Amino acid sequence: MNIAIIGTGLIGSQVIQRLTAAGHDATGHSRSTGVDLLTGAGLADALRGAEVVVNVSNSPTFDEDSLDFFRTTVTNLLTAAQAADVKHLVTLSIVGVDLVPDLAYYRAKTLQEELVEAGPIPYSIVRATQFMEFVEPTMSWTTDGDVVRLPATPIQPISSADVTAEVADVAAGAPLQGIRNIGGPDVFALDELGRITLAATGGNRRVVTDETAGLFAAVKGNALLAPADAHLTGTHYRDWLRSR
Ligand SMILES: NC(=O)c1ccc[n+]([C@@H]2O[C@H](COP(=O)([O-])OP(=O)(O)OC[C@H]3O[C@@H](n4cnc5c(N)ncnc54)[C@H](OP(=O)(O)O)[C@@H]3O)[C@@H](O)[C@H]2O)c1
Repeated sequence: MNIAIIGTGLIGSQVIQRLTAAGHDATGHSRSTGVDLLTGAGLADALRGAEVVVNVSNSPTFDEDSLDFFRTTVTNLLTAAQAADVKHLVTLSIVGVDLVPDLAYYRAKTLQEELVEAGPIPYSIVRATQFMEFVEPTMSWTTDGDVVRLPATPIQPISSADVTAEVADVAAGAPLQGIRNIGGPDVFALDELGRITLAATGGNRRVVTDETAGLFAAVKGNALLAPADAHLTGTHYRDWLRSR
């Protein structure tokens, strides 16, 4: 199949590799290849001949501006996909995204989902839990000197390679007209996840539990855990840490 992947970052680059290895004609697009979802530049050319589009682009910020980013980029993508007669649009979203309205970025991703669901292109939404690769950036946001402040928010980390396999599987199949939830195999409190990470990676930082610290302080209860219908993937966080 001819598949256009929008976004060539952590997930997009791996999705291109995986779909290509499976024999698909998979091409990646982003501003670095001349395609800008915000302005629409290069989009018509990028989607010409594509049967499937995989949207794994991301907003440069997680603040209120992300709402404008996802509103504009999804609107432009849906218009271009309709003109190109695209048969399936796959969008990567976040487990429980609609349950965390206090976070602007989560409201923005919820808006992205709603626009896709209301749009003219047959669609699939893959909702993933937090990427294992996202743990260290999360810790760096709330690091001050040798102290990392983290709440005990329940998190179910998934490796980006496992996310990639699920996204590629959905892209190669029929539109779900719905959501596939995917999550990693284990649940951790985020502060504990930070301690496990520091124990494995060394350095002089230590984790202090702080229920008001960082992005995940806004999460209530188990909102970010994979629901009962989710596909749970195989890579465990400690094994992933060791393998890096
Ligand atoms: N992090 C998590 O734990 C998590 C969990 C679940 C779901 N997700 C979702 O996974 C998706 C992909 O994440 P990722 O980590 O792979 O992102 P990433 O590594 O930051 O890559 C984002 C890509 O988007 C492209 N991009 C940004 N602005 C663009 C624009 N205006 N036009 C075209 N392309 C643009 C970037 O390339 P250029 O800069 O070259 O344009 C880049 O290739 C996101 O939508 C995120 O919400 C993340």
